[in-house]
Amino acid sequence: MFLRYQQVSRIIELVKPKTIVEVGTWNGDHALIMAKTALRHQTAVHYWGFDLFEGSSESIDIQEFNFRSHTKLEEVKEKLEKFQRSNKGFTFNLIKGNTRQTIRANINASWPDPKTQKEHILGEADLSYIDGGHSIETIQSDYNQLKNSKTIVLDDYYTPDENGNCPTTKKVGCNELLTNIDHFILPACDRLDSGGVIQMAATGKNFMRKLSLEQKKIEKSSQKFTRTVVTSFSPLGYYSYGKRFIEQFARFWPKKVKLIIYLEAPLPIKTTEQIETRMFSKICPEIIEFKARHMNNAKANGFVDGKTKNYRYDAVKFCHKVFALTHCALSNPSEKLYWIDADTIFFKPITNAFLNQILPKGYYTSYLGRRDKHSETGFMGFDLQHNSNIEFMEFWKNIYDQDMIFDLPEWHDCFVYDELRKYFEAKFAVKSFDIRKDYEDDHHPFINSPLGGFMDHLISDRRKEAGCSFASDLRTTRKELYWQLVPYMPEEFVVNKI
Ligand SMILES: C[S@@+](CC[C@H](N)C(=O)[O-])C[C@H]1O[C@@H](n2cnc3c(N)ncnc32)[C@H](O)[C@@H]1O
Repeated sequence: MFLRYQQVSRIIELVKPKTIVEVGTWNGDHALIMAKTALRHQTAVHYWGFDLFEGSSESIDIQEFNFRSHTKLEEVKEKLEKFQRSNKGFTFNLIKGNTRQTIRANINASWPDPKTQKEHILGEADLSYIDGGHSIETIQSDYNQLKNSKTIVLDDYYTPDENGNCPTTKKVGCNELLTNIDHFILPACDRLDSGGVIQMAATGKNFMRKLSLEQKKIEKSSQKFTRTVVTSFSPLGYYSYGKRFIEQFARFWPKKVKLIIYLEAPLPIKTTEQIETRMFSKICPEIIEFKARHMNNAKANGFVDGKTKNYRYDAVKFCHKVFALTHCALSNPSEKLYWIDADTIFFKPITNAFLNQILPKGYYTSYLGRRDKHSETGFMGFDLQHNSNIEFMEFWKNIYDQDMIFDLPEWHDCFVYDELRKYFEAKFAVKSFDIRKDYEDDHHPFINSPLGGFMDHLISDRRKEAGCSFASDLRTTRKELYWQLVPYMPEEFVVNKI
């Protein structure tokens, strides 16, 4: 099953619907999953399923970009009746025909709650899941009819993949519709065979209220740019995650925190007073020289045994972070600097209290420590006004400028940072703050630290591919809406890719 479908069940866990409408019942399998989940929370659940079933035609399939085969209404009905025999609280109606007409015709239909005798109207369903015809006209029509549902989930939200491929959103999907509607894009991503990334969106007054309770507090700070976030990405990284990072930064970070992005090549990024880009080639010739010296050296690119790549020795790949961070730390007038990997998602407004918590007063640097391994440097914080800052940053840069990195046991940025930090702690009594000090488990330290209350880090290819970390990555109870929505890691990932 596609990863994004799991999120419909996650939403059902969250909103506990009695009335569920599915536009596009198809073979009825998802109807059963939704009903089973809802029946964990309600004694009576009613399902309204709309589909063309066997009544489709070639011309409708073309118009609706339907690529799946159709299932007969009787077959689906038998499946749901079988489920009903062992789940007495479950009732349903299946409605055959084109939803451009059938939803309107049934919008005031209702079902009686056996316990309360209350009539629940279809048009005010607790959850409507719109996943029928793919044409923008049909999605618009389905949404218009069902817009009074308390929570609405729409499939078919498209974004370009790394190669720029994407379905034509002027013709298919819900992108056009959502330009005028307050909504939330659900985290999980699936890939389309034809190119592009597909996600789901959620809206509806109850869902948006839950979201706004978390998202309304954007703090105003009185001073100008006392804090800076620095990051870097390649052109490929920009299209995979950098673009989203910038959009979410603008949305969730206080306006007085600056973002500085170090780039290898010009990219179509709109700079503002808050968001600045810097070209490595113009301001940091040392990285160009370092890469030129080691570009053709397989060992310095992680191939120490000449055959397999080992990230622990990939000095070239992991040098960008160090050159960007040290350059920024030595040329930036703000007080606090945070490195954040650009494959990070922000989902909740960042507060000053949180920023103080992750780099408390009196500490020079903060980091995500691990017990049995090097730190996770997806996040690092620095107090730029600390006495040791200039010496620390110049030392770090020199390790690369003078190729001293190759005298160390490992050549990636995490190892070098840890060594340097420990050296400054021992020699200059510099205080470092381990954001993870209260946590026992080393698994996915970023999200299982206070950072996880505001952000997600898509560490490793499988999480980048999924568009989010997994609910099964959590080792701590999280109440944020985002974490209620992310899917569990699929079996095939657990078996094949761990
Ligand atoms: C992607 S499938 C639905 C998948 C299903 N919701 C699930 O989660 O497994 C889309 C369904 O919408 C139906 N459909 C497409 N256009 C339609 C239309 N205009 N009216 C009614 N049903 C339509 C198709 O017959 C197909 O069964």
